[in-house]
Amino acid sequence: MSRKKIAAANWKMNTTLSEGQALLTDLLAHDLDQGTDVVICAPFTHLATLAAQTESLDNVSIGAQNMSQHDKGAYTGETSADMLLAVGVSHVVIGHSERREYFHESDELLGQKLRQAIDKGLVPIFCCGEGLDIRKAGTHVDHVITQLKTSFASFTAEDLSTLVIAYEPIWAIGTGETATPAQAQEMQAAIRTYLVERFGADMAAATPILYGGSVKPDNAQEIFSQPDVDGGLVGGASLKADSFSAIINSFS
Ligand code: PGA
Repeated sequence: MSRKKIAAANWKMNTTLSEGQALLTDLLAHDLDQGTDVVICAPFTHLATLAAQTESLDNVSIGAQNMSQHDKGAYTGETSADMLLAVGVSHVVIGHSERREYFHESDELLGQKLRQAIDKGLVPIFCCGEGLDIRKAGTHVDHVITQLKTSFASFTAEDLSTLVIAYEPIWAIGTGETATPAQAQEMQAAIRTYLVERFGADMAAATPILYGGSVKPDNAQEIFSQPDVDGGLVGGASLKADSFSAIINSFS
């Protein structure tokens, strides 16, 4: 089965609205491979505007970087799935390592956010990954599979039919240090094996698994050519239209 090729941008807390609009306009002016699904995960303040800007484009979607696990109510400062959907957002990043680390989001909480995204019909980009200490100890595969097992505990294969996973080794995020293609492939093959065992071969074969962590135009092609790497979640290099368009066009 051929899986979707996905290049997802994670702008994090960068750009004002006008800067974000200009960055997207610049990106769309490039010659982009129409076979790649592009997802722009932008700050909340930009989402409605960017969704309107890309409404007529089949292969460009807008994603949020976080979302509440709650439906609605007295949760000051939070943003609900319905609010995202109402402005044209289709994707949501869940469990980015910065949310896990700085906002103490646990595997259990992320399971609740995942449930909310799926119930509402948002495509979840679910992040997992290990820190440097765990990589050095050699327990990285166990660590990542445990993250997934805990968050996915109450889900069926049918629930997760739209799931996208992003493997992001924390030691490679924003550091300029990239996992080697072999390191990415080792983990992503292990994730797929877990999906086969837990959810069955069809679900595992259909689930895109992205790599994230210092993806750049000069390493994207080699990483994306690994059999279990279906694309990238790109931070720093997505903030320049030239480099992100080169990454979008890096699938062979
Ligand atoms: P980076 O970020 O590409 O800047 O390493 C990736 C991410 O955090 O999603």
